[in-house]
Amino acid sequence: MNYVEPYKIKMIEYIEKGTLEERKRWIKEANYNLYNLKSNQVFINLIFDSGTGSMSNIQWAEIMLADESYAGESSYFYLKEIVYEIMGCDYCLPTHQGRGAENIICSTLIEPGDIIPSNIHYSTTSSNIKNCGGKPVNCIVESAYDIETEDLFKGNIDVEKLKNVIDNNIGKIPFIILTITCNTLGSQPVSMSNIKDVSKICKENNILLFLDASRFAENAYSIKMIEESYREKGIKEIVNEMFSYSDGFIMSCKKDGLSTTGGIVGLKNKDIFMKAKNFCLLYEGYFTHGGMSSRDLKMIGRGIKEAVDFNCLDARSKQVFKLGKKLDEIGIPIVKPYGGHAIYIDARKFYENVPLEEYPAQLLGYELYLEGGVRGNASNIKIKKSDVQNSTVEIKNYSLLRLSIPRRTYTDNHIMYVAEVLYSIWEKRESKSKGFLRKDKGDFFNLNNYTMEFVSNFK
Ligand SMILES: Cc1ncc(COP(=O)(O)O)c(C=O)c1O
Repeated sequence: MNYVEPYKIKMIEYIEKGTLEERKRWIKEANYNLYNLKSNQVFINLIFDSGTGSMSNIQWAEIMLADESYAGESSYFYLKEIVYEIMGCDYCLPTHQGRGAENIICSTLIEPGDIIPSNIHYSTTSSNIKNCGGKPVNCIVESAYDIETEDLFKGNIDVEKLKNVIDNNIGKIPFIILTITCNTLGSQPVSMSNIKDVSKICKENNILLFLDASRFAENAYSIKMIEESYREKGIKEIVNEMFSYSDGFIMSCKKDGLSTTGGIVGLKNKDIFMKAKNFCLLYEGYFTHGGMSSRDLKMIGRGIKEAVDFNCLDARSKQVFKLGKKLDEIGIPIVKPYGGHAIYIDARKFYENVPLEEYPAQLLGYELYLEGGVRGNASNIKIKKSDVQNSTVEIKNYSLLRLSIPRRTYTDNHIMYVAEVLYSIWEKRESKSKGFLRKDKGDFFNLNNYTMEFVSNFK
């Protein structure tokens, strides 16, 4: 399991831990919401892998070569060519970030009452669908709901579920979104054979297939490592094949685009592109920049090219694996298999004495911050299981602390430090029986974890 990063560090950014007393004060001032902390109050920031990665010297050089000209920027054509080379889409629209791309696709294609199936929609995708009058439906394989099973492709769509939804909603499904990797329940990959199967079903039923490609390269890496027939293939070749089964994609470039901002709508059909272009103008900006500066387009284009580098992906994936394995050895309950970009701790199992209504993930996030200045992402997730008519059949509740690893940013020493801090909290877990209460007494599962404020329920 030896690996080595195919790059060296050229510039560093100092980080500080503060004292225990300071961290106590800062988190209280933040109303116990990790999102409210100021970044200079955080030592190791694992809140998100979105826009937090490090860029290469070539990305920075491309930034300097960009021309700011409002329309027809050469940077747009540079990005467009790369999107064609890697994703096989003739048409592309830049957007300010992933949710901008979601809004454009939904506004272009959804009629009120439409049903949009997925493995699991990302939260903003789900909201964008609803905002356009559609209904998001999750069709993920059953094993995904059991966060401890070791099934390898827990991001797959359950093909039978999908067929049922289609048969019961004829004429009401303009497109399906396959989220690769499926980050809502543990950043789990989707197999090539599943992408192929879903694509076949879509074609038979005259439904478009879009990939939410925010973590396309990590998904391709998993296909290479797990699916026997892809072992000898290169990442770019695998990525090309993945996208060949789709009609286009939406993407947040802040993840596998290795960029600090941006999103893309990629399309193969000119008519859809022409319609989508109008929504880009309305919501984002002129279609050759989508509200971004030209330099952003260059940064993203180069980022996508670098994303398919096997050695980079291998080092990243093994760093995430290293954290997962260490926590496993300690006995800390985590989502299995280890996620592509993050390790998710099952906070309900971590703090068995803390009721779900007192937000065990918030408690764990608080302790991790207090003990070591490490910021994770405490999420209270409610997943709706629907039947073919889109009626709710079951609600699954999870309280997870996600530790997202930014790309090319932290060393293995940082990662092992995080594991050590968690070990020390784990040793003291039985002394905790109280968590937090919502300050505003809103719904327990307001999906918007970002804005929640808490009061401590312990001394
Ligand atoms: C799978 C997936 N899709 C879409 C988005 C939304 O992207 P953005 O945050 O750039 O709007 C995210 C963000 O985390 C995501 O993980």
